[in-house]
Amino acid sequence: MKGIILAGGKGTRLYPVTLAVSKQLLPVSDKPLIYYPLSALMLAGIREILVISTPWDLPQIRRLLRDGSHLGLRIDYAEQPEPNGLAEAFVIGAEHVGDDPVALVLGDNIFHGYAFQEILQRHTEDIEGCVLFGYPVRDPERYGIAEIGADGRLLSIEEKPRTPRSNRAVVGMYLYDNSVLDIAKNLRPSARGELEITDVNRVYLERGQARVIDLGRGFAWLDAGTPESLLEAGQYVQTLEHRQSVRIACLEEIALRMGFIDADSCARLGQELAGSAYGQYVLSIAEQLR
Ligand code: TTP
Repeated sequence: MKGIILAGGKGTRLYPVTLAVSKQLLPVSDKPLIYYPLSALMLAGIREILVISTPWDLPQIRRLLRDGSHLGLRIDYAEQPEPNGLAEAFVIGAEHVGDDPVALVLGDNIFHGYAFQEILQRHTEDIEGCVLFGYPVRDPERYGIAEIGADGRLLSIEEKPRTPRSNRAVVGMYLYDNSVLDIAKNLRPSARGELEITDVNRVYLERGQARVIDLGRGFAWLDAGTPESLLEAGQYVQTLEHRQSVRIACLEEIALRMGFIDADSCARLGQELAGSAYGQYVLSIAEQLR
């Protein structure tokens, strides 16, 4: 399975901060926001990843993540000049995806919870149709909302509904079989002028091929799109990391645990960052798992 991180957009809700810096590069506690969605793809075992962003932000993101080889990944980059909608990722990324299934993750989404890795790995094998993830929210009018049948089948999906049929928001991690490329190619822009991911999901729904995994309330799904949610996300991460003495979304640790790199490489990466507590943590993990 291939991966795509969609990390463009204007970040207007964070202006003036995002006038000069990509939202995805802002710090959430001790690391850039984009580490969190990237870590989710890595935990799913995905190693070929396309990062899509604006022509202005892409060079900085590339400076951060490079070609991915230091993490045992292959990271490629592609431009999305205008935020024409999430489903444009499959038009821009068609060549990257090739004949494979694909996981799309939004660059400002953070996932953290028990057994997430197992859930992802289970559903990235042999995917037919699409797999979405639902999460209970207080304000369903603001999200894409899924109605889920008893067997996990998607019954209906609506973007920002006035009268929501459920409180399950569709989070920013989507798994698709390869037919998503054709679906996206034939999609018409919505009234907002965007290629909507909800319209892609609706095609799978009509084919009876859309499933939703309910992440439930023991799980944390955060998006860092506003000053408040960015701060809250940082506080959440900091609290957990402080109490548990482990780090969330430490890419070097995940690469080592997943067997993408060895302990020596991990130690070298830690050495490059040794001036920070993050770097010291990477060094200690390399030592522990040697
Ligand atoms: P949004 O939060 O919907 O948009 P945004 O990041 O531009 O922020 P704002 O609403 O404050 O203007 O986007 C969610 C994620 O998807 C975010 O990581 C940016 C990304 N995105 C794209 O890369 N391209 C797009 O066309 C859209 C709509 C979003």
